[in-house]
Amino acid sequence: MNLKIAVLSGDGIGPEVTEQAVKVLKAIAVNFDHNFKFTPAPVGAMAIDLVGDPLPESTLDICKANDSILFGAIGHPKYDNDPTAKVRPEQGLLKLRKELGLYANVRPVKAYDTLLNKSPLKKDRIQGTDISIYRELTGGIYFGEKKLSADGNTASDLCEYSRYEIERIAHLAFVAAKSRRQKVTLIDKANVLETSRLWRKVVGELAKEYPEIELDFLFVDNAAMQMILNPTQFDVILTENLFGDVISDEASVIGGSIGLLASASVGDVHSMFEPIHGSYPQAEGKGIANPIASILSAAMMLDHFELFKEAELIRTAVEKSLQLNITTPDLNTKFDNITTSKVGDFIEDYINNPDDSNLNFTNMHLGQSTII
Ligand code: IPM
Ligand code: MG
Repeated sequence: MNLKIAVLSGDGIGPEVTEQAVKVLKAIAVNFDHNFKFTPAPVGAMAIDLVGDPLPESTLDICKANDSILFGAIGHPKYDNDPTAKVRPEQGLLKLRKELGLYANVRPVKAYDTLLNKSPLKKDRIQGTDISIYRELTGGIYFGEKKLSADGNTASDLCEYSRYEIERIAHLAFVAAKSRRQKVTLIDKANVLETSRLWRKVVGELAKEYPEIELDFLFVDNAAMQMILNPTQFDVILTENLFGDVISDEASVIGGSIGLLASASVGDVHSMFEPIHGSYPQAEGKGIANPIASILSAAMMLDHFELFKEAELIRTAVEKSLQLNITTPDLNTKFDNITTSKVGDFIEDYINNPDDSNLNFTNMHLGQSTII
């Protein structure tokens, strides 16, 4: 397959983790006889520094001209601490989502057996967790009218949703549930918000088209508690933009590190794949950033283009790296010298030599293995 991929590595640890995902995609291309072409483009704080715009027109054009986008991270502390900043890196990401119509953000959350003891949550609570979060991404309070009074003392953000916006992502969530455990949980705040009542009504009506799927409703405050108390009750979660943002960061604790969580943002035409973690500026350039979320995002990209075998091989390689403790310090208590690029090298090597899975890796010491 020929695939043209725009690479928007962005800020902070974005470039170093994205580099590993590109490395892994290149290995897939060689081994499966595909032709992947990568085109880098600036976005975020680094694009503001370069041309004064977090999403330059040329970057948007590159995104539109390519088949898909691999995204790194966005954000810089100099903007976080300055509420008066007129231009913010995040505006670049939000504009990209809106302009490309990426209305469905899919965030899988899994408790890996090998990492159960890495989560601060109790093992018996999280074991077996396998959730797919469907977060609406181009509507709601993120994109409603924003106002600040002339005296600077009153502000408002409008939260607005239309039936159409709810239906299109709800369909995707129901379809996803069909090939999973056949359950959709809608998370809202229908006891208070009008928009949430519309979500409940529309999703309830739509559920009739999917009689085999069980539909459940939860208020977001209760859902936040349930996510920690009993996460295995969830299969597909469907929710609006802001609740999805919050719930997915919370859910990342289950996996043991936010550095593991990948995501896909898809629309009817375009698609973008990105780790859910941010730019983590404190770690920039230190080689400690976990590249797994970016690598798993690349696997989601391959799934999107129906390259299922290829995506599966990446996931197997990732699981192998976790089993063998070939992980960055956020997950590793045994070795402290495994860098971002070493994890990428291991996964690349595994893709080139998957037969090595027959070897007994467990007795292998780091640095003595040809794999590393
Ligand atoms: C995310 C991020 C973004 C969001 C920020 C960077 C604008 O937190 O992708 O979850 O709020 O959507
Ligand atoms: Mg977020």
